Parts: sequence; structure tokens; C-alpha cells
Amino acid sequence: MTRHMHLNLFIHSRGHHEASWRHPAASPLALSDIRYYQGLAQQAEAGLFDAIFLADQLALGDDVAHGPRTALEPLTVLAALAVSTSRIGLIATASTTYTEPFNLARQFASLDHISRGRIGWNVVTSWLATAARNYGAIAPLSHAERYARAEEFLSVVKGLWDSWADDAELDDRAGGRYANPAHIRPIDYAGTYYRVAGPLNLPRGPQGRPVLVQAGSSDTGRAFAARHAEAIFTAQVEKTQAQAFYADLKARVADAGRDPAQALILPGLSPLIASSTSEVQRLAEELSALTNPEAGRQRLSGRFGGHDFSHLPLDRPLTPDDFPAPSSVEAARSRTEVILDVVRREQPTLRQLLARLAGARGHHTVAGTPEHVATLMAEWYTEGAADGFNIMPPVLPAQLEVFTAEVLPLLQRRGLFRTAYEGDTLRAHYGLATPASQFG
Ligand SMILES: Cc1cc2nc3c(=O)[nH]c(=O)nc-3n(C[C@H](O)[C@H](O)[C@H](O)COP(=O)(O)O)c2cc1C
Repeated sequence: MTRHMHLNLFIHSRGHHEASWRHPAASPLALSDIRYYQGLAQQAEAGLFDAIFLADQLALGDDVAHGPRTALEPLTVLAALAVSTSRIGLIATASTTYTEPFNLARQFASLDHISRGRIGWNVVTSWLATAARNYGAIAPLSHAERYARAEEFLSVVKGLWDSWADDAELDDRAGGRYANPAHIRPIDYAGTYYRVAGPLNLPRGPQGRPVLVQAGSSDTGRAFAARHAEAIFTAQVEKTQAQAFYADLKARVADAGRDPAQALILPGLSPLIASSTSEVQRLAEELSALTNPEAGRQRLSGRFGGHDFSHLPLDRPLTPDDFPAPSSVEAARSRTEVILDVVRREQPTLRQLLARLAGARGHHTVAGTPEHVATLMAEWYTEGAADGFNIMPPVLPAQLEVFTAEVLPLLQRRGLFRTAYEGDTLRAHYGLATPASQFG
């Protein structure tokens, strides 16, 4: 099979730019209206994307006054999208921190059946203090403990998904035998955090198990990804850093005894596209004019575990001393490192940094013509920085339409992107093997 780049549509708000929700080119539908997600997933499927991706947090964002911080529950959305699309992969985020592995194993296995093998799970651990308070905890767990629990969680979930042989469900109506009990085994897991007997109360899914995705880039996060992830989402601000991340992760996957080709590295990319440089500039200015810097300051504080940035002037160049050390941040550590890297390299003012983060929260942004965007994607892909991208259109659906109509044909002409789906499952789109069954 020819090697092609892999593309997900990352659906977030009415686009990834902070001000997209109020931009005139954004969808008129409410963010709680399933037709919004159905329309985008169908559009992405028509464009031959590998998958759509939904992020999630287990609490209302504290700046809901300034922008949408709500979201439909992603697994429920995937169920709706599974029956309104037929080929595209469907990936949702779910946290291991506040649920039981039996619950998530069962929900994802159900979705894999409903979608006929198109499901992926972005495994995250929850760091928000507001989320902890929604689940009876006073404070979030430490970074180390969250990952220790996640490790066990994954052992249990994988065991449950593998607790039925592919041929265990007989459904033999004439013979009166529904299932072969010799091909269904308990898992009898007993660890530090979880005790789970199993087996799962559902046959093995069409993909063997849903595709496992991971998006934490801290050292512990990378080690976890190396052991489990089949796709790795990441925020990389520039190509050389993305290359270093790519090389590091692929080496770690090999060290973990896995084939590096079976772990795709997909950085985020937020392209603002128009037919001329002046039109791109006009769009960027329109979005900036709709952005509120004080709301940005508050969000930055949230990223750094509530650190107080209120005294910082908007127009003085920043230095790393203006920030707490990332190692002291118990939240999503890797994104704080991405932000500090920008500060070290470019010494932006707070106003400039906030404008940059408003673009796509620290992911790589590019503004230009379709040719410019296609060339950048081709370079990252062919120069060892990415196996593909999480495409994060700044305004939805308008910028997805432009990307699909103008950029994808350029990539296809260069032989870098598929011109038809070759399979029916997310594993097939991603070129991933089906996990071996314990039953052989
Ligand atoms: C593309 C992308 C999407 C992410 N989506 C989520 C998400 O939906 N929910 C979440 O809590 N964290 C999300 N994260 C952040 C991390 O996966 C996660 O929060 C992790 O716990 C932070 O781990 P780290 O300290 O290893 O970076 C995302 C990261 C990336 C790059």
C-alpha cells in the first residue's frame, strides 16, 4: 500500500481560533445541536479524512463568559456520528482518572460495534482542579499518580477487550447455542487501583480493539505513549522541534518492542487559508479584532495551575522568569513547555503571546494560500516531522471547506494523500494491524 499522510479533523467550538464562535463565517447552529457535528463529519468524510477527533474536559471552563466552554459528551456524539457516516474514523477523548475501566471498555467496544470498526480512544488523565471537585475529590491527583492509574486502567481495558475470542458468539439458533463459553475468559485483574473479574459482557469488536491514541507529551506521557499508543497527538510550534519529538517517540516505541510504523505521530496544524496573502491578512485581522486579551490572560493562568499573571503589562517583552517552572506545574505539563519555548525563542509581549495562543492554543498555526499550506504539510511529512496532522480549522465550517476544496487536491496531485478510501475501519485508514487475540 502507498504511504499517505493521515489527516484528522479536530472539531472544537466553531473553530480553533478563540474568536471563531462569533465570526460571521462560523456555523449558525448551536454547539449543542448534533447537526453541527454531523455536517462536519460528513464533510470530512467527503474529503477522505482518516477520522474526526473530539477533545473533552470534565468541568465547565471558568471563562464561559468569554467563549464556549461547553461540549456535548463525546462518546454520546460518536454514537450519533457512527450512524450518520459510513467510512470515516471517529475518535473521542475519555479520561481514565474518574471512571472505572469496565465502563469505558464497554462503551468503546459498543461504539466499535455500532460504527462497524471506526472508533479510536484518546486516553487522557484529568488534571483540572475543577474536574476533581466534580468527582468528590478536593484536589487533582499528582501527575505521577494519574499516569500510574492510567497504566493499570489500560491493562484492564485491553484484557476486557480481549476476553472474547472472535468466534465466541455463535448465535446458533438451530442448535440452541448462543456462545461458546470456552472462548470467553475472565481476566481476574487485581492491581493497586483496580480489581476487575471480567469477562466483558460484549463480543470482541470489529477492530479487535479500538485504536488507542495518546496526547500527553511529558516524559511520563511519552513513555506511556510508547507502550500503548497507535496514534500520538501533539502540539509542536515549529518543524525542528516536531522532528525531535518524532525521532524521540519513534525510538521509544522501538525500545518498547513495538514497530514504530504502528504508532503514527500527528501534530496539530491550524491553517488559515485564502486565495491571496492580503486576503489571509484581512481574515487574521478580523479574528484578532474579535479576541479579548483579558480573557486570554485568565486562560494562561489556568494553563499554569492558576499562576497570577495579572501584574504583567501587555506590551513588555516576556522572559521565562515571568512564568513558574513547568516542572512545578501539575497540570498539562507539556503545553506549558511549548509556551515557554515560544517565550525563549521569540520574546513576545504578553499581547503577542496571547494573540498566538488565541490561534490554536499553542498548536502550529499557518496563514497563507493553499499552495503555501500544502507545501508546509509536505515538508513536515517528508522530512520526518509528522505522519500526518490533526487539522484544526480556525473557523468551522468555512475554513474546512477551503482546506478540503483547495489544499487536499494539491496534496493528492503530489501523491501525498489518498484519492479514495481503501478500507472500512479506522485501523485500515491508519494502516494499523489488528491486535492479536489471546485465543490465537
Ligand atoms: C491534540 C491534543 C488534544 C488533547 N486533548 C485533550 C483533551 O481532550 N482532554 C484533556 O484533558 N487533555 C487533552 N490533551 C492534553 C493531554 O493529552 C493530557 O491532558 C495529558 O494529561 C497531559 O499530559 P502531559 O503532562 O503528559 O502532557 C490534548 C493534547 C493534544 C496535543
